[in-house]
Amino acid sequence: MNEEKASWLLPPQASNFAREVDLIYFGLLGISGAIILLLLVLIAYGLFKQQSDKRGIGRFLTARSRWIEAGWMVGPLLIFLGLFAWGADRYLNALEAPIDGHSVYVIGRQWMWQSYYPGGQMEQNTLHLPVGKTTRLVLSSEDVIHSFYAPAFRLKHDAVPGKSVQFAITPTQPGHYRLQCAEFCGTNHSVMAGTIVVMEPDAFAHWQRSNRADYSLAQQGAQLFRSHGCSGCHAASSTIHAPDLKGLYGSRVPLERGGFIEANIAYLRDSILLPGKHITAGYSNQMPSYQGQLSEAEIATLLAYLQQIGKDDGGE
Ligand code: CUA
Repeated sequence: MNEEKASWLLPPQASNFAREVDLIYFGLLGISGAIILLLLVLIAYGLFKQQSDKRGIGRFLTARSRWIEAGWMVGPLLIFLGLFAWGADRYLNALEAPIDGHSVYVIGRQWMWQSYYPGGQMEQNTLHLPVGKTTRLVLSSEDVIHSFYAPAFRLKHDAVPGKSVQFAITPTQPGHYRLQCAEFCGTNHSVMAGTIVVMEPDAFAHWQRSNRADYSLAQQGAQLFRSHGCSGCHAASSTIHAPDLKGLYGSRVPLERGGFIEANIAYLRDSILLPGKHITAGYSNQMPSYQGQLSEAEIATLLAYLQQIGKDDGGE
């Protein structure tokens, strides 16, 4: 595989929406440029007109100023609102990750990126992805704010401590691409970089097999779930009254304070670290918080396990 060459202006377009992001970029640049050009022409025209005919420009201004003022407020407003809507729609679509499927947990820490795969594989500063398939990235930070920035994918997302965010990434061509931290995070921020390796599905499957770990991510989570005593309360047979976690992920959970919440990644994470935040209807606030007791990697295994149970019994 060759190192992808950047064009003279931009990195290669290596994701499913890189083209459209570039279009928005050049659209914004073009429209801004056209407006600046128009302003310069009007200023030059006004100066010229005033020079040649003082009374003429005075008439021109009083006769039409309202329309001109309204026009240049409403016109650019509509144009830029349109651009905003286009960009926001693209951005939200890009973030919308499938609830299931191939997921990689990416953790930023001073000063490296770590990737955890469903099969239990772990890598530093490298992220392997299959081409043409949507991978869900679950991003978090061990310490300070980092930013996952993959220029060739036109993708950038902050990794904020205390949060797990997810977004979709769909590479469109095999190759090696740069991954860079884009948020100043301390002394070695500039070297907090890595490589995204996009492979053909066969090669990717082979890579997964040849790097297989002893336990899958979900199995590691299951072990942690038992060793931390979670299973003591959450098992169906337990005497302590705690919600059953089978089939929880993706469901709508009724809350004690009223209303419902979707059991997504953020909810699962909060339920481990801030168990008092969303009390399930019919239960009381009894669970201790695991804040400060789990590393981000351990949280990733628990999230993988909690998503898995209900589908089967914690296997890969
Ligand atoms: Cu991490 Cu900058």
